[in-house]
Amino acid sequence: MIPIKTPDEILAMRKACRVAAVILDRVCALVAPGVSTYELDQAAKGFMDELGAVSACYNYQVGRLRFPGYTCISVNEEVVHGIPSLKRVIRPGDIVSVDVTVRVDGFVGDNARTVLVEPVAAEIRKLCEVTEESLYLAIEKARAGNRVCDISQAVEKHVSKHRFGIVRKFVGHGVGRGLHEEPQIPNYGKEVKNLLKPGMTLAIEPMINLGTHDVVDSGDGWTYVTRDRRASAHYEHTVLITDGDPEILTKAG
Ligand code: MF3
Ligand code: CO
Ligand code: CO
Repeated sequence: MIPIKTPDEILAMRKACRVAAVILDRVCALVAPGVSTYELDQAAKGFMDELGAVSACYNYQVGRLRFPGYTCISVNEEVVHGIPSLKRVIRPGDIVSVDVTVRVDGFVGDNARTVLVEPVAAEIRKLCEVTEESLYLAIEKARAGNRVCDISQAVEKHVSKHRFGIVRKFVGHGVGRGLHEEPQIPNYGKEVKNLLKPGMTLAIEPMINLGTHDVVDSGDGWTYVTRDRRASAHYEHTVLITDGDPEILTKAG
């Protein structure tokens, strides 16, 4: 069952998502050469404390593993779930995917963005542009009466034109009281036929690779990297299905 949020729950989602967006903006503004991903994560924790939010990533459990960071920060060949580290120091030419997921008053907001640290190679810039474009094309399909696969197809169609690799191992998802609710939202294919209805809140998140779509565990149990070690981009918004246009909940403004 895909949860339908009540009007009160929607108000709570708006609040959690706005906080998630403000924190993402603030962390992204700190991305610069010489800064470690650990420092970015510590800054994020400070913003969460200030704004009355708690990280939905910290201690997130998969099997016996618990995620040790407050945010996920994935650099270059890292696709998602990068563990912030003092050893990962940002350099010119890097792309840095920051994923901020917070809980406020019991509801979760989830958003991510890839920051370009200039000078970025032209093909990698293109990768980021196309990935962000694919997110907005997908959001455009997040309408009552459409199906989940209309979102998937919007990403796939746009990305395929540019021959980039669409990550298959990870997918978007419903979000609300839980970080990962039904439905799963692949960025490819036509399989997920669920009808979209007003009151659903969905995290739409294309993860797109310069080369192969294939990803491998880097060895720490969390950080996934591209098999060919070429760059990967990630953009994510939490969106509300309404009777009319989709409402992007993770907007800072
Ligand atoms: N924010 C991620 C998502 O978009 C989830 C991160 S869970 C973590 O679904 F444990 F890896 F942090
Ligand atoms: Co996320
Ligand atoms: Co997500």
